[in-house]
Amino acid sequence: MCGIVGYVGPAVDETALDVVMEGLARLEYRGYDSAGVAVIDDDEIAIRKRSGKLANLRSEISAHPLHASSTAIGHTRWATHGGPTDNNAHPHLGGQDRKLALIHNGIIENFHRLKTSLVDAGQSFLSETDTEVAAHLVAMAYERTGDLTEAMREAVAQLEGAFTLLAIHADQPGVVVGARRNSPLVVGLGEGANYLGSDVAAFIGHTREAMEMGQDEIVTITPDSVSVIRFDGTPTEGKRYHVDWDAAAAEKGGYPSFMAKEIDEQPQAIGDTLLGRTDSEGRLVLDELRISEDSLREVDKIVIVACGTAWYSGLTAKYAIEHWTRIPCEVELAHEFRYRDPVVDEHTLVISVSQSGETMDTLMAVKHARELGALTISVCNTHGATIPRESDAVLYTHAGPEIAVASTKAFVAQITACYLLGLYLAQVRGVATGERVAEIMADLADIPAKVQTVLDRMDRVREIARFMADSRAVLFLGRHVGYPIALEGALKLKEIAYIHAEGFAAGELKHGPIALIEPGQPVFVVVPGPDTPHDLHSKVVSNIQEIRARGARTLVIAEDGDEAVVPFADEVIRVPAAPTLLMPLITIVPLQVFALELATAKGLDVDQPRNLAKSVTVE
Ligand code: AGP
Repeated sequence: MCGIVGYVGPAVDETALDVVMEGLARLEYRGYDSAGVAVIDDDEIAIRKRSGKLANLRSEISAHPLHASSTAIGHTRWATHGGPTDNNAHPHLGGQDRKLALIHNGIIENFHRLKTSLVDAGQSFLSETDTEVAAHLVAMAYERTGDLTEAMREAVAQLEGAFTLLAIHADQPGVVVGARRNSPLVVGLGEGANYLGSDVAAFIGHTREAMEMGQDEIVTITPDSVSVIRFDGTPTEGKRYHVDWDAAAAEKGGYPSFMAKEIDEQPQAIGDTLLGRTDSEGRLVLDELRISEDSLREVDKIVIVACGTAWYSGLTAKYAIEHWTRIPCEVELAHEFRYRDPVVDEHTLVISVSQSGETMDTLMAVKHARELGALTISVCNTHGATIPRESDAVLYTHAGPEIAVASTKAFVAQITACYLLGLYLAQVRGVATGERVAEIMADLADIPAKVQTVLDRMDRVREIARFMADSRAVLFLGRHVGYPIALEGALKLKEIAYIHAEGFAAGELKHGPIALIEPGQPVFVVVPGPDTPHDLHSKVVSNIQEIRARGARTLVIAEDGDEAVVPFADEVIRVPAAPTLLMPLITIVPLQVFALELATAKGLDVDQPRNLAKSVTVE
């Protein structure tokens, strides 16, 4: 989730650099690992960029001052392709004359193919990024057209994936051109100056008048004009609005909390984690793992190690991994794994799951696994973190920075990444045909829209949460893939609402937990779809009857059209149907929203709950 700022102002005030640096500072909350700026200085492009925080960039600029300018772009990078280095930091220069600078947020899916043809055409590359490909394409188009807007239009026609691009050209001072597809871009409307940003925080210090950019649109700003065209060249107009958020709220994109924002970002987190990992035939392509297929074919056991919510993502993915690969898959708490003398050898694949990539318990488990000779793959959301560096390979989730302590979008992205690993293993070992892999990938591609459908239905869940704000204990039941979702739903409520909450396997009820049921006891039940194998659906419906008969207040999460649950449910929370193994990505959402709303009703700090840290870097 990179931060993007563009500014063009009157030549006389020449404050472009200050405006852009201020905007980048307001975008720091998005998380980043490098930053850079570019200005038009006479008939040259001048760039300053450094890995690390903005302070490093400021030092660089102090050491190598930039001349005043009226045209500038700036970027904070959350690394996806290529590590967080000075070279990979944005902006990137394009063309042989290096007179074009470009910044980018998103993932260009087809950049490998484009880069190959550009190298063959003689273009040189200084970075590992997909962004540099776009810089060259726009520069080459500019050499043909002499117009930055038209050059951008020709370039984006060749790009696939999700991107927001901003470009400036030394031969066109006073002009910034932006383009967006599946990635945010908003225009700030000033007096004698105009702004571009990945969100309004980029320019809220200068103007509250903004304009939305639609999908597949290009905007050209000058000090006195804003013009928008579609990718096909036809003119259009963005929707103008007044930003009534204060600067602090703007950092959260107008949301009351980062957690609320990140829950809503889950469709994008899943989509971005899938992006660029299949070929045109729908086959999985995980070359980024840089692990030989022979090594993967020798794996005879999988152990997933993680903590907290990350552990629940592993528990969830286990069902799919075993079903698709037919390899036994254990899921271990990292802090238990390394002390129980685990049976691990060179044929064991140990997958660590960690949003931060810095959790000490998980890091120590990975080191232990490597000492035992295991092959280690990290599923991580933070580029260049310690755990990926200590692993043989890494599969990054692309959830963007997760600021709230309570993990939400990283959780669904972790499950998605573990699914990709399981499917890839099945593909490499010949256990799943190309058609089957493509079919499952198509089902996964449908999930973001289904998650959005659930997000759009949450008013009643919020109402229930406010009504239950005084609850002293809430239970969560689930079976099969619904069981780890029950556990995660309980953890969310514990973490941010400080309420005793416990998740159980529904089948375990009669072995003890049912003694907890008393009149009015709230119990969430995650119900498998009616077509789930082994008649699990009717078994869970029976479980609901058992607790309802003892007075429980049953809050049932069930698929659209599932009428069997209605007679026994005090509340039915409807979710769209999906293949059983993929349902957890959908059914977790109401439980996240419930916990958030209940904690909010209690007036608690949902982003920074008591006693907790975002990353537990001690054992
Ligand atoms: C989840 O909401 C918590 N923040 C916590 O359980 C977290 O998942 C756990 O500490 C693991 O963190 P990691 O993913 O950064 O390794």
